[in-house]
Amino acid sequence: MRKKVTVIGAGNVGATLAHRLVDKQLADVVLIDILEGIPQGKGLDLLEAGPIEGYDVHIKGTNDYNDTANSDIVVMTAGFPRKPGMSRDDLLKANYDVVKAAVGQAARVSPNAILIVVTNPLDAMVQTALRVSGFPKHRVIGMAGVLDSARYRTFIAEALRVSVQDVEGLVLGGHGDTMVPVPSYTTIAGVPISQLMPKEQLDIIIDRTRKGGAEIVNLLKTGSAFYAPSAAVVQMIDAIFNDRKKILPCAAYLDGEYGIKGLFVGVPVKLGARGIQEIVQIKLTADEQAALEKSAAAVKELVEIIGV
Ligand code: APR
Repeated sequence: MRKKVTVIGAGNVGATLAHRLVDKQLADVVLIDILEGIPQGKGLDLLEAGPIEGYDVHIKGTNDYNDTANSDIVVMTAGFPRKPGMSRDDLLKANYDVVKAAVGQAARVSPNAILIVVTNPLDAMVQTALRVSGFPKHRVIGMAGVLDSARYRTFIAEALRVSVQDVEGLVLGGHGDTMVPVPSYTTIAGVPISQLMPKEQLDIIIDRTRKGGAEIVNLLKTGSAFYAPSAAVVQMIDAIFNDRKKILPCAAYLDGEYGIKGLFVGVPVKLGARGIQEIVQIKLTADEQAALEKSAAAVKELVEIIGV
């Protein structure tokens, strides 16, 4: 039987994600939004592309959570995107209400699903989703690190004029200005970046990575990034459905790992059929560990504001 993915939010991220999922025939997709007609129209349009693209997976747009029942994965993208000058944190209260309502309804009808949260501010929203759903921590995951690492890898590949496929790099911590790109695990075809790029140049790339979301917001002016974020979610879903046990940086609920307790923070995790199968604990330099703890403190501040 085909897998079922519910995408909450039929806006830029949600609709692009639905598009990518059906194109790759990863699952049947239900696209749900609070707006009437938008998910139905986008869903039907994507369904009608099936005969041309050659996919038989089904996609349906709806406003009714009953249609989402028994999903294997629920992806939460609904919420308000950033406008220029707005930080992810400005979104906090508005999106808290959206996540609470939408995840609550989706979790009730898909009690065994794995939840992937995209809505910003990411780390606080995924913590909200954990509380509202009541799901175990291995089934609630935040998408941030795959995207932030992809930005980091893009900039490195461009600077060194090498294939993006040869660039490995981790970005840990919260999905905000305090995120932690980790130079000690950045390699080009296995060669440490320190041998190929001066520190000053890498520092500029790290800074650009931290501001990567804002760079897109400032260009678009009417919204935030959606192509790379949706691609990042697809990689996570592919790892889960194919039980790849792939190690990807994701926001995971930490219970003492990395010296952090009771918070979602971006760390390397092993993703497979059951969701987060392991939090991979890597050795960090003292500076990287300090930056991770600072980032966790910023996440904690947000979480305390909304009390989740
Ligand atoms: N239930 C369902 N859908 C909702 C709700 C709700 N309670 N509230 C808002 N939505 C829908 C909107 O109607 C809209 O279609 O969420 C969708 C959001 O789409 P966009 O405005 O295009 O935003 P998008 O770019 O997709 O970003 C969504 O992802 O990356 C993050 O920061 C970003 O938090 C933002 C989220």
